[in-house]
Amino acid sequence: MENFYTTTAIDYVNGAPHIGHAYEKILTDIIYRHFTQRAENTYFLTGTDEHGIKIQKTSASQGITPQELCDINSQKFKDAWKALNVEYCQFIRTTDEQHKKIVQKIFKKLVDKGDIYKHSYTGLYCSGCEAFLSEKDLTEDGLCPDHKKKPEVVSEENYFFKLTKYKDAIAKHIKTNPDFIVPSFRANEVLNQLENIEDISVSRTKANVEWGIPVLGDEEQVIYVWIDALSTYITALGYDPDGSSEKFNKFWPANVQVIGKDILKFHSIYWLAILMALDLPLPKHILAHGWITIDETKMSKSLGNVISPTGVLEAFGLETPDALRYFMATSAPCGKDGNYSDNDFKEKVNAHLANSMGNLLNRTLSMLCKYFEGDVKQEFKIKSELFDMAIETVNAVKHHFDYYEVQEAAQKIMELVDATNKYVTDNAPWTLAKEGQMKECGQVLTTVLEIMCVISSLIYPYCPNIAKSMAEQLSYDLNTKLDDITCDNIKVGHLIDKESIKPVFLRLDSELADKSAKV
Ligand code: MSP
Repeated sequence: MENFYTTTAIDYVNGAPHIGHAYEKILTDIIYRHFTQRAENTYFLTGTDEHGIKIQKTSASQGITPQELCDINSQKFKDAWKALNVEYCQFIRTTDEQHKKIVQKIFKKLVDKGDIYKHSYTGLYCSGCEAFLSEKDLTEDGLCPDHKKKPEVVSEENYFFKLTKYKDAIAKHIKTNPDFIVPSFRANEVLNQLENIEDISVSRTKANVEWGIPVLGDEEQVIYVWIDALSTYITALGYDPDGSSEKFNKFWPANVQVIGKDILKFHSIYWLAILMALDLPLPKHILAHGWITIDETKMSKSLGNVISPTGVLEAFGLETPDALRYFMATSAPCGKDGNYSDNDFKEKVNAHLANSMGNLLNRTLSMLCKYFEGDVKQEFKIKSELFDMAIETVNAVKHHFDYYEVQEAAQKIMELVDATNKYVTDNAPWTLAKEGQMKECGQVLTTVLEIMCVISSLIYPYCPNIAKSMAEQLSYDLNTKLDDITCDNIKVGHLIDKESIKPVFLRLDSELADKSAKV
């Protein structure tokens, strides 16, 4: 694989990031890191969605400019991603000058093509969705199903995008590419939505919404929401209707665009239509992840159960985000909803990361020091059946990532950890040592250490700090590409001193567990 490009949704900056936003960024970062272990060139884009009536109103109520509010809140997202080791290559903001300039050009190109036209319209506008809704979208009480608010009746002359022109082409694309939408069970949902699709409003009058990108040559209108937000995926790379950058040509189309299930319609219908109208290739996959609930309840400000990802790190006294990354990434099968609770978090990471994986390395290295002063001898290096399982696990993990099954891949890794623990129990190196079978004892320990090298590579995308600490103690090169992994990494000679052995993950203090900070 040569180039790999992945993106997340760009978050609204009405408030601080919560654990749902974090889930998506962690998932994408794990996918990105996995593919850095496979592809030559990789690129990861995230960012913030900053225009719209909500920002205009909130900033006014706080007595600051919309730009000031965006600057403050966008920084909170950057800070959170830094704390979570989300290693994006670029953070785009819809208020970036370059982005605004290109969005204006994109809009003009679509007007010139006849795909955008002006039209007087009366519609039901939900400011929560930042979108017009049709009667069919509403609940029985006439409320927006997502925001539980009555939409406003808005009469305006707006620009409209001819979505209907692309309806058949989109349906054909989804039907002929059954793995385009991941998980594929969501494709039917999109095809049903497509049945009722109408042309969409893509501008608002400046009189009603000021905080947006002005339409070139029509100062009374601002480009609104989806053309602005979706275009970030290409403007960030340097797309330009008058001639794009090398980076754009290298990385577009994206391999996978990661979004929440609530915005799948915009990504698998609106976005495809815009790209078709611009004569650009379509992304290879859209991954629609599920939603994270808190203690099985939907997160909401009014319930006061909104969890801050950095709050969790602080409450548990975590110096690195690995445990939270691991927990979130494994909280749900691909595309399904997941749940966060302090207790589940603590129990899972203690069991998987501390007891199963961390202890395995720690006690094996300790035994190597106790029995062999940390030395590996040539006669310890044997072939083991466990090596076949390790290589099979590498292949299984790659296969799951080909379908962006992040949780499922982690499960495979933990199966290898469990099998290795069983191997240690079955072969009891401490008994071998007691009985003076030193060669056999050394062989068991070295076999385990070989497997631990493979595990450190596989766990790296989820837990980069733990993986680094493991690799360091094993003198293993974590930059090994997954295609080049073998079970012949432990070098004959001195591996480690007793003093250099350190636990890669400490159990979470149970007393701290209930104190997880709420935003
Ligand atoms: N700005 C738009 C996206 C534009 S993309 C061109 C938006 N922003 S958002 O802040 O509301 O949501 C950003 C992402 O976070 C979305 O993919 C959304 O699904 C995800 N999540 C928001 N709450 C979530 C949970 N509780 N759980 C998991 N993901 C959640 O939509």
